[in-house]
Amino acid sequence: MSRAQTTAGHRADTAPATERIGMIYARTTDGVIGAAGSMPWSVPEDLAHFKRTTIGHPVIMGRKTWDSFPEKFRPLPGRTNIVITRNEAARREMTAAGATVVSSPEQALKTARAAEGSEEIWIIGGGEIFDALADAASLAVITVINSAAPGDTRAPQLDSTWKSTMVEPANGWLTSSSTQEYRIELWEKN
Ligand SMILES: NC(=O)c1ccc[n+]([C@@H]2O[C@H](COP(=O)([O-])OP(=O)(O)OC[C@H]3O[C@@H](n4cnc5c(N)ncnc54)[C@H](OP(=O)(O)O)[C@@H]3O)[C@@H](O)[C@H]2O)c1
Repeated sequence: MSRAQTTAGHRADTAPATERIGMIYARTTDGVIGAAGSMPWSVPEDLAHFKRTTIGHPVIMGRKTWDSFPEKFRPLPGRTNIVITRNEAARREMTAAGATVVSSPEQALKTARAAEGSEEIWIIGGGEIFDALADAASLAVITVINSAAPGDTRAPQLDSTWKSTMVEPANGWLTSSSTQEYRIELWEKN
């Protein structure tokens, strides 16, 4: 049985009917989401958009994404921060810092379903966790950065079951206060 089937079965048993699992990330036009543990661009408007979208809902991330946040900004406020690791020492450290730490992607989803605001669950990266949980998502909120910056971590591949349902702006790009061009895309899967 595939992960998607497992998730659907689990959802039918235990989750509210309105539950929606989304991925949210920023990527370059080439699909890069990270470089050397951070994001190789600056778009403050995207950080504000990320906060507006995820606030009040559980967020699921890998340990390296947690590590990428400055200490004073983690856990992300107003959201249950669910962090996935296999490492016991990292678990203890992150728990002490206020994360809800789990040991597998499946356990992350289960924990998110029991958290406040679970009618929407946000998978926030990085690359390993998108790969592990993309099949469970039916929504992708993507900030496309008009840059060819090189990197070592890539966005998940959205196959032909995903459809583009919104692009902002419809043509061209928004311009950040940093001068970086970007746009917001919404993709949905049945
Ligand atoms: N552009 C964006 O929107 C965006 C969003 C998020 C992150 N990023 C970037 O992406 C990069 C980080 O992504 P990444 O792929 O390197 O790392 P990641 O997905 O954030 O975290 C990987 C870690 O998660 C844990 N993990 C992964 N699979 C697991 C499993 N099946 N069971 C238990 N634990 C598991 C492991 O932690 P342990 O090693 O502790 O066991 C692993 O090292 C950074 O550059 C970050 O800035 C970009």
